[in-house]
Amino acid sequence: MNATLERWSTRRAFILAVTGAAVGLGNIWRFPYITGENGGAAFLVLYIAFVLLLGLPVMMAEIMIGRAGRRAPMQALGYLAGQAGASPHWRLLGLFGAFTVFCILSFYSVVSGWSIEFFVTAVNGGFVGLSAAEVGAGFEAFLADPLRMTFNHTLFLFMTMTVVAAGVAKGLERLNNLLMPLLYLLLVLLALYAATTDGFGPALAWLFMPDFSAITPLVVLHAMGHAFFTLAVGACALMAYGAYMPERQSLPRAAAAVAVLDVSVALLAGIAIFSVVFSQGLDPGEGPGLMFVTLPIAFAELPWGALWLSVFFLLLLLATWTSSINLAEPMVATLQGLGFGRGKATAAVGIAVWLLGLLSVLSFSALAEWRPLFGMNAFDLMTTIPTEIFLPVGGLLIAIFAAWVMPRGDAQAALGVTAPSFVLWLTVLRWISIPLTVVVLAAGLL
Ligand code: PFF
Ligand code: NA
Repeated sequence: MNATLERWSTRRAFILAVTGAAVGLGNIWRFPYITGENGGAAFLVLYIAFVLLLGLPVMMAEIMIGRAGRRAPMQALGYLAGQAGASPHWRLLGLFGAFTVFCILSFYSVVSGWSIEFFVTAVNGGFVGLSAAEVGAGFEAFLADPLRMTFNHTLFLFMTMTVVAAGVAKGLERLNNLLMPLLYLLLVLLALYAATTDGFGPALAWLFMPDFSAITPLVVLHAMGHAFFTLAVGACALMAYGAYMPERQSLPRAAAAVAVLDVSVALLAGIAIFSVVFSQGLDPGEGPGLMFVTLPIAFAELPWGALWLSVFFLLLLLATWTSSINLAEPMVATLQGLGFGRGKATAAVGIAVWLLGLLSVLSFSALAEWRPLFGMNAFDLMTTIPTEIFLPVGGLLIAIFAAWVMPRGDAQAALGVTAPSFVLWLTVLRWISIPLTVVVLAAGLL
């Protein structure tokens, strides 16, 4: 790739692509269950603080690097390092990012496969009249069936890699943009419905009245990891999009818009899901099945519930589809940069991710008792280590590169802000984001 990449046709196209990457399973599936496992409101406070102090400034750094380099991540980092007289080994950060998204996509595809399964069940009216316990039992039976899970994982990954190979992601993003407001509306509706249930009060208390005694260094690490994950920051994936950003677009404003949207989707999903949890006497710390067990119940209470539930899972699939394309793209781009053709690169990535995903699939059945590290099974490891260690480490290196390695003039130009705003951003990055990430990683891991 060279320095004259085509630009996104409009500013909106850029925001759409980044929103497509950001809004996905992280908001609707991971946010509620991880908040439920980590004590509720206190965790939410931490997570929002991390979005503001880390996620947002590092997201700006990541996109800025892509915009300054106007190349694929590895090449952009190598080129900018050269310009700054720094080590060419900074390119390896791009490779590390590709490895991170490789791990993430392997479980992302499996869980998106659960959405396919639930979509099909919803369309067939399979949830009508079921109690919470019955939905839960159905989900357990599905998890215990590796063939059915592998089928859905395969289907989802195939959908993703086909779009990547054909290079039609922009078309999908337009569709995404058209339909995301509907997903948002459905979540608003669900939250309104939740307000009429007797679980609503407890849900609000659980989400918004913090009990800080529940906070441990590990809980803080979970919150930090989730902030990176949900914003799609730390894997050089947004860097790739930055390379296409129009000259005149405000980068900080775009980043802030995406963060606000992303957090609000998570909050709406949280309100709906925890209202069901409390009205049905379920356990908020139920784990990765939380959304799958609660939402069919919530929708069942609405008129036309089965229809809305089907529409919901369809839209969720679309949201995860655009996120998974963003996860796959940097790997394919990296292989292309190493001389592979696009078709071969896509096939290689698809097969490798598929194989790694089998570990997650089997961790619910054949490998359920296999706990190779920290007492965690394969699924817990795949969802935890890349999200909570690799993304923050990648984000840390991105921040160091932007704040200490790149010449200030270049960084300011690519960020496209006035001198005082630039100094503010640089100060936050240097003296808050970077030390904070180091401290939280160290405290959580030691
Ligand atoms: N942000 C996505 C979500 O919340 O579902 C997940 C994600 C996408 C993480 C892309 C990392 C990434 F590079
Ligand atoms: Na997200």
